[in-house]
Amino acid sequence: MTGGTAGIGFENVKTLLHRGYSVTALGRNPSKLSEVIEALPNKEKQLAFLSCDFSDLNQVSEAANYLRQHQWDVLINNAGAKVESPKKQTVQGFEWHTGVNHLAHFYLTSQIWDAAADSARMLTVSSIVARTHVMTTSNEAAMSTADHYAKSKRENLLFGLTVARKLKNTNQSSTVAHPGFTRASRYGASWVRPVEYLLAQPARRGSETVLRGLDESNGSYIGPAVLELWGKPKPAKLPSELLDETEQNKFWKETEEKLGIRFRLN
Ligand SMILES: NC(=O)c1ccc[n+]([C@@H]2O[C@H](COP(=O)([O-])OP(=O)(O)OC[C@H]3O[C@@H](n4cnc5c(N)ncnc54)[C@H](OP(=O)(O)O)[C@@H]3O)[C@@H](O)[C@H]2O)c1
Repeated sequence: MTGGTAGIGFENVKTLLHRGYSVTALGRNPSKLSEVIEALPNKEKQLAFLSCDFSDLNQVSEAANYLRQHQWDVLINNAGAKVESPKKQTVQGFEWHTGVNHLAHFYLTSQIWDAAADSARMLTVSSIVARTHVMTTSNEAAMSTADHYAKSKRENLLFGLTVARKLKNTNQSSTVAHPGFTRASRYGASWVRPVEYLLAQPARRGSETVLRGLDESNGSYIGPAVLELWGKPKPAKLPSELLDETEQNKFWKETEEKLGIRFRLN
């Protein structure tokens, strides 16, 4: 569970523990996880924290080295940098949002895929902005941080869908979910906080929507029912161009080239 230390991911961790999973939560700040142990002392042995800053691929590599020693059943790619301003780069020099949200997850997944169980499920967390956000420009240098965030969530969606296509005819699956408008532990822009308190659904509800993705069939995309912002989970609108095989292969190859790796899936 990446980003298991706060917000939606933290709620996911609690639910998964209740369901009897042993959970490894990746993140930078484990302080909230101690709340889980205080509230659920009998679950202590089922919860591990793995410190990993997704803005540094060396740390992701170290986390992967540890994770791939154990077979895993479920991988939830949830960690997410919000709209973080001013513009900045990851340790390896990638644009921050793409680096943390997409490249780090692609890299982590590639490094631990060999340890996936025969019926493993991967769930990737995207956002409604993957579909609704209108890029102000196609020139990367001129893009705003909001554009970069939206692009990274589109990359998350494309990643989950491409893995799903590659897993067709296997017992493994890849699904994608987005939590609509959910109260997070932090948000990039200061004006969002009061709006969030008034309009956003609780993190618990966002987590319910996201986790529904685990019960759905390979290639599903799930979001909240009401305007895709609030409410119970249901299939979300999928931009048809993201299902295009040529588009998916181009995206996959470009990501591999950026990372300097090959990720062969079936
Ligand atoms: N809330 C919404 O309305 C909303 C809407 C659409 C999509 N989403 C998506 O939902 C997912 C969860 O977001 P949230 O709302 O729960 O946000 P959040 O409360 O800010 O939690 C973000 C999580 O990601 C981790 N994270 C962020 N940057 C990281 C980094 N550089 N390295 C490692 N971990 C990092 C954080 O870990 P630490 O705190 O330990 O650093 C935290 O556990 C994200 O993918 C987000 O894009 C949320």
